[in-house]
Amino acid sequence: MTAEPVGARSRTGYDAETLAALVADAEQILARYPDPRSGLLPLLHLVQSVDGYVSRDGIIFCAEQLGMTAAEISAVATFYTQYKRHPNGEYTVGVCTNTLCAVMGGDAIFDRLADHLGVGHDETTPDGSVTLERVECNAACDYAPVVMVNWEFFDNQTPDSAAELTDRLRAGETVAPTRGAASVCSFKQMSRVLAGFDDGRADEGVGAGGPTLEGLRLVRAAAAVDDAPGTPGTPAAATSDRPGAEVPPETGTEQSSAERRPTTPSDDTGPAGPADPEEGDDD
Ligand code: FES
Repeated sequence: MTAEPVGARSRTGYDAETLAALVADAEQILARYPDPRSGLLPLLHLVQSVDGYVSRDGIIFCAEQLGMTAAEISAVATFYTQYKRHPNGEYTVGVCTNTLCAVMGGDAIFDRLADHLGVGHDETTPDGSVTLERVECNAACDYAPVVMVNWEFFDNQTPDSAAELTDRLRAGETVAPTRGAASVCSFKQMSRVLAGFDDGRADEGVGAGGPTLEGLRLVRAAAAVDDAPGTPGTPAAATSDRPGAEVPPETGTEQSSAERRPTTPSDDTGPAGPADPEEGDDD
């Protein structure tokens, strides 16, 4: 008997090659979870990496892979703003308008970009390059106001710098985030990373710069004074300078994501070596 082709019974509209690739990727994703339904969120990112949004075909695909209904998949996909229900631009430009960024100019940046691009929240420029969004706090308040491009940080923005940033994106130029990866990838490429497929760039750049490390510097300065023989610690001591405190850390050194200790089997290929199987075992 001839084996049935992959996806022969699929109700999606994907061509055979696309469907076979999706099925192979989905198998890798679902193998990470004891319950396949737990893999729905990365599966939705996976279909976004192919279609550029959570399409009708993508919803049916997820339903078929998980033995769920399309209504159940839609209920999840419409709950999270990271899942797009219409074709997204190549770059999602998210302006943080949460409290601190708004106070520091986030609202002004959003208004300027809306005028500059001629689109509103969750709308895409006619050339398909930029989708503009208001986004909530990205835990980068020490760099407010912050603009995210496909979830890469652009710190301390102004209306002018943000408008220039979108001009460069629309012109097809390579732009470099303030921290993290050396360049911004496309929405589809980013979606594949969010689906759990490593693009090899996780350790590019530094995760924390001077403002983020300032509290740590103050605590260490205070602790150093407290530890000095015969020198009682005082709040004033915390303001003492530490040589090199203003110099951002290098990749792979303190506060860089590259220094993170291995914690999962997927870390086995990391530069720090395999996870310690004994760690965290309370038995
Ligand atoms: S309020 Fe904008 S990053 Fe926190």
